[in-house]
Amino acid sequence: MRIYATPASPEKKTSESQIVIVHDLPDESPDPHVGLGSRGGRPRSRPPKTMERYQRILLYLEKINVSFDGFKAINDLTLYIKEDELRCVIGPNGAGKTTLMDIITGKTRPDSGSAWFTRDLNLLASDEVAIAQAGIGRKFQKPSVFEALTALENLELALAGPKTVWKTFRARLSGEERDFIEKTLARIELSDLRARRAGLLSHGQKHWLEIGMLLMQRPRLLLLDEPVAGMTPREIDRTVALLHELKGKHGIMVVEHDMEFVRAIAQKTVTVLHQGAVLAEGGMDYIQSHPAVIEAYLGEALC
Ligand SMILES: Nc1ncnc2c1ncn2[C@@H]1O[C@H](COP(=O)(O)OP(=O)(O)OP(=O)(O)O)[C@@H](O)[C@H]1O
Ligand SMILES: [Mg+2]
Repeated sequence: MRIYATPASPEKKTSESQIVIVHDLPDESPDPHVGLGSRGGRPRSRPPKTMERYQRILLYLEKINVSFDGFKAINDLTLYIKEDELRCVIGPNGAGKTTLMDIITGKTRPDSGSAWFTRDLNLLASDEVAIAQAGIGRKFQKPSVFEALTALENLELALAGPKTVWKTFRARLSGEERDFIEKTLARIELSDLRARRAGLLSHGQKHWLEIGMLLMQRPRLLLLDEPVAGMTPREIDRTVALLHELKGKHGIMVVEHDMEFVRAIAQKTVTVLHQGAVLAEGGMDYIQSHPAVIEAYLGEALC
């Protein structure tokens, strides 16, 4: 990805829009026949041409706009994530990071733009359930595990899915499924605590259990919103190790404020959001020394 300092386009007035971002994936102008179009409306079913040319795009978001009562939370946002890529998204409070995840998971409908998950699923024409079933798993900031159930039961329940009678499902678990649960328990370091009620696990362990529950669905894309918020330094180190293990097996988008953590897990591209738009994309060193990024973070620590 390259960033050029050029005159701002006429419709953009903020100082940071002086920076034109050229993404390292497609450079073709978007297909006007996909997405919601500039005035919203019914989404079209044809995948964007850029996706046809670049086969390995897992997530394609182009020119997305979202307003809440006239306030532009997402502003012409374009972002591509390749298969098996781990992408960190950073940005000051209110930049639109959680809203971005809401759009991907179908919780928030944009006013305009295109959003595809692989070439098969138009996210803007799909509901939350269909999006989750297609392989997008989301972890919220606050861990949501079943506190009265054990760690093992939480994983079994996640594997069973919502429409299954759990007791029947447990009785019929195949050897392969049991292995998968065992491997996941080991991966999230809860093998020895499998019989402990989730409510009695530490804050970090609850987070890992929730990640384990997402893994039970074999997601192609994992969305993690502030996964290390409130964790101890040791728990953060363990989460770094967990993400290194998951890297390359799933597409992963991580939103996080903890820059040390981001540096520890980041692959070559980190995306900086500011005022609902991509302000910069690039390597961690590049991002942290970028004047517009530093300016956007003024008043917050970008260490
Ligand atoms: N449902 C909503 N209604 C009105 N405004 C909203 C809604 N959701 C988000 N916003 C506003 O949109 C902007 C972006 O919010 P968002 O939660 O996406 O930011 P964020 O980057 O996740 O911030 P943080 O780092 O604090 O979590 C904020 O100004 C927020 O107040
Ligand atoms: Mg947020």
